[in-house]
Amino acid sequence: MSLFITFEGGEGSGKSVQAKALFRRLSELAVPALLTHEPGGTPFGERMGRWLKWAKDANISALTELMLFNASRAQLVAEVIRPNLKSGKVVICDRYADSTIVYQGYGRELELAMVKATNKAATQGLRPDLTILLDIPAEEGLARRMARKQDRFEQETLVFHNRVREGYLKQAAAEPRRWLVVDASQSKRKIADIIWQRVSRLLAKGKNDKRT
Ligand SMILES: Nc1ncnc2c1ncn2[C@@H]1O[C@H](COP(=O)(O)OP(=O)(O)OP(=O)(O)O)[C@@H](O)[C@H]1O
Ligand SMILES: [Mg+2]
Repeated sequence: MSLFITFEGGEGSGKSVQAKALFRRLSELAVPALLTHEPGGTPFGERMGRWLKWAKDANISALTELMLFNASRAQLVAEVIRPNLKSGKVVICDRYADSTIVYQGYGRELELAMVKATNKAATQGLRPDLTILLDIPAEEGLARRMARKQDRFEQETLVFHNRVREGYLKQAAAEPRRWLVVDASQSKRKIADIIWQRVSRLLAKGKNDKRT
């Protein structure tokens, strides 16, 4: 059955670790699944992503950022996400449209209605069935990433990252059925178990719905 699951959260919250863990679990159970990520996931998107994260010799305004993330997203939805959902896979995406709402909306303070409208155009209205928010204080998440080279977003102020966290919590509270908020300061295994509980329930529900 097709299911579209996205992972969201601030820097170093554990999205990539948990997205991979979920993909591995599904693969072990022979559930057809695909793991992708944003920005990127297509040859065009990977190039956009490098620009967005690492551009040093060029100015990128907040509005340009909004457009470039959505250019990468439009390509990913059309080329990868929709076709794989259509063929009945569980598609897992490490970051998706909600990242743009919180980073360019809450973080960069672009008008939320405009950000949402642009996202909607790029995704052609494709929304996740489940979004997992890995919630952690900004300082703790950033500290986990310290060993790594800091990209344009990781170099932002703590005030920016706190706005991002608040933005995520507001989005989740506004749509509690779609979001699963997990305390990301717990152990990797504990978090993976909490996520699996919800995903396995959705999979079982999908099978039952098909039967009836
Ligand atoms: N629950 C956890 N407890 C402790 N460390 C963790 C936990 N989850 C992930 N980490 C570690 O924190 C670091 C960041 O994890 P990960 O790359 O999954 O985060 P991310 O949310 O994908 O970050 P980014 O926003 O930079 O993509 C890694 O070194 C990872 O091993
Ligand atoms: Mg990651």
